[in-house]
Amino acid sequence: MAEPTHIYPIYDRMMTRADKESLLHQRGVMIWFTGLSGSGKSTVALGVERELHRRGILCRILDGDNIRSGINRNLGFSAEDRLENIRRIAEVGRLFVDTGIVTLAAFISPTHAYREMAADIIGRDDFKEVYVSTPLEECERRDVKGLYARARRGEIKDFTGISAPFEAPVHPALSIDTSVLTLEESVRRVLRLILNTNE
Ligand code: ADX
Repeated sequence: MAEPTHIYPIYDRMMTRADKESLLHQRGVMIWFTGLSGSGKSTVALGVERELHRRGILCRILDGDNIRSGINRNLGFSAEDRLENIRRIAEVGRLFVDTGIVTLAAFISPTHAYREMAADIIGRDDFKEVYVSTPLEECERRDVKGLYARARRGEIKDFTGISAPFEAPVHPALSIDTSVLTLEESVRRVLRLILNTNE
């Protein structure tokens, strides 16, 4: 795509990230959850949000509910659309992180390449990968949305874990398996990761 023209930069006059962070008394960071559909990404993110809020830390969840139904509603699940989904989420996420906000992104983001792109956009120092490693059998057993059954019947194509790939992260900042840990324990571990980076 061509670089936009006729845009007059105002970055040099904007208040800085450091200004925002000192206003909020916290540091911006991206907690990037990755894992299969039904693994518990959004549920853990919701628990973390409550705990952060209780501690006076401003945060924002980005997940399918507020992204795929809005800014990304023109995107499906082809490899190309997933890449664009993740690219836009990372760009939006960067704005939040740059505002000093603890940002929790809960998307399957199934391949190394998508997550690498997100880390590049956000900046590696601000990007903490949390692998929600709940096994496929458990996600499929839960089948909260009934999508695994439909994917098995061939009614949904390119379904992650069934007919589309999921590549487990190699060096996540944290792994949590919600089939083994309680929700409280999962939330506690993510919280610890955030509070360590926010000291
Ligand atoms: S991602 O691969 O582009 O990161 P994202 O997290 O936004 O995926 O959306 C995943 C959610 O969309 C799933 O939890 C599920 O509810 C729904 N979904 C619909 N079709 C598919 C599909 N083919 N593969 C995976 N998830 C799908």
